[in-house]
Amino acid sequence: MDKLKIIGGKRLHGEVNISGAKNAALPLIAASILVNGKTYFTNVPDLMDITSIRLLLEDLGATCKASKGYLEVDGSSIKKIEAEYDLVRKMRASILVLGPLVARFGHAKVSMPGGCAIGARPVNMHLSGLEALGASISIEHGYIEAKADRLIGNEIYFDMPTVTGTENLMMAAALAKGSSVLRNAAKEPEIVALADALNKMGAKINGAGTAIITVEGVKNLSSADIKIIPDRIETGTFMVAVAATGGDVLIKGCEPDHIGGLINKLKAADTTIIPSTDSIRIIGNKPIKNVDIKTLPYPGFPTDMQAQFMTLMAIANGNSMIHESIFENRFVHANELLRMGADISISSGNIAMVRGVKKLQAAQVMASDLRASASLVIAGLVAEGTTVISRVYHMDRGYEAIEKKLSLLGADIERI
Ligand code: EPZ
Repeated sequence: MDKLKIIGGKRLHGEVNISGAKNAALPLIAASILVNGKTYFTNVPDLMDITSIRLLLEDLGATCKASKGYLEVDGSSIKKIEAEYDLVRKMRASILVLGPLVARFGHAKVSMPGGCAIGARPVNMHLSGLEALGASISIEHGYIEAKADRLIGNEIYFDMPTVTGTENLMMAAALAKGSSVLRNAAKEPEIVALADALNKMGAKINGAGTAIITVEGVKNLSSADIKIIPDRIETGTFMVAVAATGGDVLIKGCEPDHIGGLINKLKAADTTIIPSTDSIRIIGNKPIKNVDIKTLPYPGFPTDMQAQFMTLMAIANGNSMIHESIFENRFVHANELLRMGADISISSGNIAMVRGVKKLQAAQVMASDLRASASLVIAGLVAEGTTVISRVYHMDRGYEAIEKKLSLLGADIERI
């Protein structure tokens, strides 16, 4: 299994280009199931998770053509409605084929996605939403089975904002008979991107990006060209890495207003940030100030940036409190940071007290999930000495060519 070897202490400088967003591409590619024809995607990131969903669609019978940054999916040849355990277990986001399959074919069998390092991650809101649209749901032998002659529009109320739940039900409602209203919907930019794409395909969706989304069902959807939006979490990850190493970098091809929650906190930590329409310059030229954060649904501070920000606070002046309010177990990276000399104590499961230390020490550490691996890479960039990170496949799920992009910015990093 690959490892990343990092010799710390180099300030990041230069320019970096942001790739297409994993968490936008996954629901968008799933939406191609709704079309009895081809859907064309550009600015597609080259990630393991994208390969996983392509293989899943091909297993369902879709015909895919993939090349660098490009993906074409022909949904007209789909003849199977069962997403098998072996494919779903590799990536939880496979649950996103459930809504489209039952909306287009009236029947779907999808393996229950397991939990992962960060929590149990149930899908109850996905299922109760589909039941509200008239689907009958059964769960047997680890598979979800959803059936409906035709989904019927209805009111759906989410107990709490769910990103893929909102996406699944927006896609299902798009082909339902009559209109639906999704209340307490997630507001992430990826939801807006999906609604825009579905509307390009002929759907009638309003309100995406707000808590109330209305969907007027249509009979069918047609081909469209979809460009994947930039990855706001990759953007934020590079911003934190530059702040931590005291660098000066221009981040290009990003959307500054998709990452306002983080920018607000990085400014409070005394980082200099100069945003423009599609780029952000970030300069870490002052000592890092301690800042308290609480993760919240968009537009609050993103939970996917919590691990990276903890690394920054680990070397800040003073103490900071990190409250993870979205997932029940998203501090696994703290144990590895402790091995690198950080001073962190976890109280009551979802609040971490981070006491800033002067320096982190290089060590051998292990990645546990996608964003935890990013926090360890940032720690390796600032720690004195050589850090080796194992289980780097977690990183490859969500960061395109991370060591190449960091090397171009002056980091001493290589895959071994
Ligand atoms: C999406 O996951 C992202 N993944 C996650 O990014 C991200 O961390 C998360 O949203 C929160 O922003 C993709 O978009 C593919 P949720 P999702 O449903 O949709 C609970 C990454 O690193 N919940 O918004 O699965 C759930 O347990 C990944 O790129 C239910 O209880 O997250 C969590 O506590 C990690 N029942 C909260 O809601 C449900 O039916 C928010 O989860 C659904 C969710």
